[in-house]
Amino acid sequence: MTTYEKLLLDNKAWAKAQEEKDPEFFKRLISIQRPEFLWIGCSDSRVPADKITGTQPGEIFVHRNIANMVVHTDVNLLSVLDYAVNHLKVQHVIVCGHYGCGGVKAAMDNNDYKPVLNMWLRNIKDVYHQHRDELNTIKNEEAKTDRLIELNVEEQVMHLAQTSIIQRAWKNESRPHLHGWVYGLKDGLIKPVLEMAPGTHIDPLYEYNNL
Ligand code: CO
Repeated sequence: MTTYEKLLLDNKAWAKAQEEKDPEFFKRLISIQRPEFLWIGCSDSRVPADKITGTQPGEIFVHRNIANMVVHTDVNLLSVLDYAVNHLKVQHVIVCGHYGCGGVKAAMDNNDYKPVLNMWLRNIKDVYHQHRDELNTIKNEEAKTDRLIELNVEEQVMHLAQTSIIQRAWKNESRPHLHGWVYGLKDGLIKPVLEMAPGTHIDPLYEYNNL
């Protein structure tokens, strides 16, 4: 059996077990999707949003990319955010990074990863640049990477707060709460690093006043 055939076989077993455990499971989910959370995480296969939070299908709306970035020109991310905030009416948006993130590590070296990856990693290099004074005081490489991973998550939460999508929902519906978390591959624990309540003021340069 090939590896992908095993996936299909395991899927059959999962569906059967799910049906046996909870006969209404699929019927319930087919009619409605009302998750309370939007998760913006890293594509890393070791950080599955539902597994590490013990949630079930239907509970978290998920977007993942390399190094859990919120890039203001990324139509994919913005359409997920728009849909989650304005249609699903999520109460919380979580940016979850993880220690040992390969994307962040790659952004810290000087390799040419060729055009498309260079372009993506450039966003992380810019976060390093912004916090260069603090980061350059850290001599241990692993500790420096870990700190950049935390700072990167904080910056991506700020990027969310800078969108009109979030600011409009804050003004009109006092939601969603924004969260920055970092997951530890070594112990499986999530460390919250930043929380922004609806209506939090940010740099006025990025605040819209005619929402
Ligand atoms: Co990663």
